[in-house]
Amino acid sequence: MKKKANILIGVCGGIAAYKTCELVRLFIKSGSAVKVIMSDAATKFVTPLTFQSLSGNMVYCDMFTVLEEESIRHINLSDWADICVVAPLSANTLSKVANGICDNLLTTVICALDKKTKVLLAPAMNENMWNNPIISENVKKLKKFKKYILLDPAKGALACGSYGQGRMPQPKDIFTAAKKNI
Ligand SMILES: Cc1cc2nc3c(=O)[nH]c(=O)nc-3n(C[C@H](O)[C@H](O)[C@H](O)COP(=O)(O)O)c2cc1C
Repeated sequence: MKKKANILIGVCGGIAAYKTCELVRLFIKSGSAVKVIMSDAATKFVTPLTFQSLSGNMVYCDMFTVLEEESIRHINLSDWADICVVAPLSANTLSKVANGICDNLLTTVICALDKKTKVLLAPAMNENMWNNPIISENVKKLKKFKKYILLDPAKGALACGSYGQGRMPQPKDIFTAAKKNI
C-alpha cells in the first residue's frame, strides 16, 4: 500500500458500524488519508462526529448539500479515492451496488469510481439475510468483476442473538485486504 493512500470508507446501517471506528484508526495510523461516507441508516448507529474526529476530515452523508469549496460531490470523492472500502456492507447496499443503483451518496460514489479503483466489501448481516437466494445471486454477480473484492462474513455470535455466518470480518483483516489492493 502507498504510504499516503487515499482511503474512502463507506459505512452502512448495521451494529458492526462501531467496528469501523477501529478500521479508520488503523488506516490513519498507517499514514493514509481517510474520508468517510455514511448512509442515512449508518448515522443511526454511529454519529458522523465520531468518524470526523477519527479521520480528521468532514464526513459525507448527503449528496445534495451545497458547499462553497466543492463542485460535484460524488465525482470529487470518486476521483480522490485510491480504494473504496465498504464496512459494514448491508444487504441493502450490497444489492444496490450489484445492480448499479445510485440512490444515495455512497452508492453513487461507488458507481462513479474509476474502473481501476477497487471496491473492498465487508458484509455484515443476519445469517438468514446472507443465505437469502437473492443476496447470494447478488454476491455471485459482484464476484464476477475484478473491481469488487468481497470478504466473506465470519461465523460467530450475531447481534440479533443468533449464531451463524454474518459477522463483519475483523478490522485488521479488512485493513490487510485493503493494503493488498492499492
Ligand atoms: C438494530 C438494527 C441492526 C441492523 N443490522 C443490520 C446488519 O447487520 N446488516 C444489514 O444488512 N442490515 C441491518 N439492519 C437493517 C438496515 O439498517 C436496513 O436494511 C437499512 O435500510 C440499510 O440501509 P443502508 O444500506 O443504506 O445502510 C439493521 C437494522 C437495525 C434496526
